[in-house]
Amino acid sequence: MDNKKYEAEINNSKSLVQLNELEIKYLGRNGEINKLLSAIKDIPNEEKREYGQKVNLLKTSIVRSIEMMKKKLSSKKSEVFFDKTMPGKAYPKGSLHIVSFAIEEITNVFEKIGFIRVSYPEVDWEYGAFESLNMPANHPARDDVETSFIDTPAHKTLGKMVLTPHTSNGQNREMKRVGKPPIRMINISKCYRPNWDATHTPMFHQFEGLCVDKDISIVNLKGTLDYFAEKYFGKGTKTRLRPHHFQFTEPSFEVDISCNVCGGKGTVRNAYMRSLQKCKVCKSGWLELGGTGMVHPNVLKEGGIDSKKYSGWAFGFGIERVIMMKYGLDDIRNYYSGDIRFLEQF
Ligand code: PHE
Repeated sequence: MDNKKYEAEINNSKSLVQLNELEIKYLGRNGEINKLLSAIKDIPNEEKREYGQKVNLLKTSIVRSIEMMKKKLSSKKSEVFFDKTMPGKAYPKGSLHIVSFAIEEITNVFEKIGFIRVSYPEVDWEYGAFESLNMPANHPARDDVETSFIDTPAHKTLGKMVLTPHTSNGQNREMKRVGKPPIRMINISKCYRPNWDATHTPMFHQFEGLCVDKDISIVNLKGTLDYFAEKYFGKGTKTRLRPHHFQFTEPSFEVDISCNVCGGKGTVRNAYMRSLQKCKVCKSGWLELGGTGMVHPNVLKEGGIDSKKYSGWAFGFGIERVIMMKYGLDDIRNYYSGDIRFLEQF
């Protein structure tokens, strides 16, 4: 009975499976220890006691060795193999929301031609949103946009508080801030109107351009709009002005740009039905960006500017709209759906 031999075998085992086999081999019902124990009947009586003690000692030492080896092998199993030469895991990177990204791009385009980026309040008094824009109290033009009022006491002279329905409230503030022209403002802010469809969300963003100086005419306006369209949407993008009415500009226009979804045709080919369908985005080849016009003399006067000496133009466009055109998107509600699979694409 050489316990060195057993121990060496146990200590050399490479896995728990192998160790388990050894345990059965030594300690199992038909194992070596039991064989030794049953051999006791052939031992002379006077030696039986000593023999039995030796076998039991051997059994204890085997049990202990197996236990120790089990611990060793199972702790080894949890050691993770680490390969220092493997490339690391890239941490997922976040990105700007498409609207934030567009705000940066639009700001850059206008800063290059001397416009100053400002961000006037999205909650303002009726004065900023209407009165200062040639829309006195009770003027029917106020009904053109359904305005959300804030439930707070009205100001004595400035009126009630509103969620601004447009960024034009920045015009009067900028005129008063700068004082003496030239003024070149690009005001980007949130706006609110109660609409919800593929091209409207109740909260949206506008960017408002305002340019006031000596001898400013519609030529400067059209030139600036064309510059913006080519820089932001790419070469070949056209703008068009349609006569319109705003209280705060005279003359007034609506600005359209040629639609990038259907290429200005107004129809798209449906791959499944193999037919031409009306373009879901523009329906006519053009998409309305917003309003523009020459600043009304009353608005200049209200901002403290001499309308005999100075003239200017202004425009207000939707950020969500311009993104839609740039990337050919057909539903701006996706921007605010919180669906990361949509947002990740930009
Ligand atoms: N404020 C107008 C709108 O939201 C757009 C506009 C801005 C029109 C500036 C003319 C001049 O519809």
